[in-house]
Amino acid sequence: MIKYLSKTNVKNLKGVAIARLDFNTEDDWRMKAAIPTLQLLLKHARALVILSHKGRPLGFQKQFSLRPDAEKLSGLLKHDITFDEKFNFDELRRNISTSPAKSIFVLENLRFVSMEKGNDKSFAKNLASLGDYFVNEAFAVSHRAEASVVGITKYLPSYAGLGLEKEIINLSRVMEKAKKPLIMIFGGAKSGDKLAVIKFFRKKADLFLIGGALANTLLYLKGTDIGTSLFDEDVNEMIKNLSSDESVILPVDFRRQGSKILDIGPQSEKLFASKIKDAKTIVWNGPMGLIEREEFKKGTLGLVRAIISNKTAFSVVGGGETVTMLKESGLSDKISFISTGGGAMLDFLAGKKLPGIEALK
Ligand code: 3PG
Repeated sequence: MIKYLSKTNVKNLKGVAIARLDFNTEDDWRMKAAIPTLQLLLKHARALVILSHKGRPLGFQKQFSLRPDAEKLSGLLKHDITFDEKFNFDELRRNISTSPAKSIFVLENLRFVSMEKGNDKSFAKNLASLGDYFVNEAFAVSHRAEASVVGITKYLPSYAGLGLEKEIINLSRVMEKAKKPLIMIFGGAKSGDKLAVIKFFRKKADLFLIGGALANTLLYLKGTDIGTSLFDEDVNEMIKNLSSDESVILPVDFRRQGSKILDIGPQSEKLFASKIKDAKTIVWNGPMGLIEREEFKKGTLGLVRAIISNKTAFSVVGGGETVTMLKESGLSDKISFISTGGGAMLDFLAGKKLPGIEALK
C-alpha cells in the first residue's frame, strides 16, 4: 500500500521533511505543481530539505545548477531559502539542526554527483540523514531508480506527495476505467515509449491519432514520400503491424520545409478534430510538429482547440514540450488533468511498475 501524505496523521509530519521535486523543465510549471505539498509540509515540519535534479549533466555544469530554481522557489513561496552546493553532509546536518524553525534548504543538482543516478546506498543514506521523513513529489522522475527517488526510501518513512497522488489517481482512471470511446494521441520525436503504450492499449483504445516521427515512419511504410523527415530507423514488427491497423489514424497533409515534414496540415487537423469530438476519454503525449518554430506550431494548437471543444471528455495531457506550449496558450485549465510526467507518464500508461512509486509501498 502506498503511504499518501494526504492521509497521514499530521503528528508524523513534525521534524525535518525531505521533499524530492523535479525542476527539470524550461519553465516553472512543475515547480508550481509542487507548491501545495510544500505548503503542507511547511505548516507541520520544523524544517524542509528539497532535493531535485535538472538535465543529464556529467559532473558540475553551471547551466544545470539549481541555484536559479531555488531563487524562483523562494519567490513563489515568499520564504527565504538556503541553497547548498557542497554536499558536505556533516555540515548540512549541523546547519539544519541549528536552523530557525521553518527553514528551507535546497540542495544543488543531485546529478552533479554520479552516485545519484547509480542509486548508491551510501549516498541515499547520507541524503536520508538530513531529515526525519521523505516525500516523493516528483512523479516525472519516478520511473528512474535513483538514490533520491528509490534508495532514500529504505531509510525513512516515505510518502507520496499531493501531486504524485493526483497522478496516480488520474492515470489509473485511464488504465482501469476509461470511458469509451478512448482516443490516444501521440506525437513528438521519440517513438519507443509511445509504442509501449500503444501496445498496452491496442485492444482497449478505440483510436490512435499519430503525428511526429512515428507518423512519418508509418506513412513511409504505406508509400508516402516523407523526404528527409524524422522517422524511426528501427522498424520492428509492431510498427509494420500498425501501418495496416484501422484504429491508427495518420495525417493526410503536412506543413513542410523543403521535403521535410515539420507539422501536420489543415486537413489533418480537421480529420483529427472530427474524431476527437466524439471521445469520452482523451490521452495525449507529444506535439504534432516542431513547436519550437512558430510556423510549425499550428497542428499542435489545432489539436488543443479540438480537445477543449469536447466539453464532456476526460482529457489527460503530458510530456514536457506539449505541456509548456499548453501553459503558454493559456488553455491548460480546460484540460481535465495535466500530468507532470513525460517518460514517467508513458511508462505508467504502458503498465510498467515505476520504481519511485513501488518504493513507497
Ligand atoms: C523528465 O523530465 O522527464 C524527468 O525529469 C526525468 O528526466 P530523465 O529522463 O533525464 O531521467
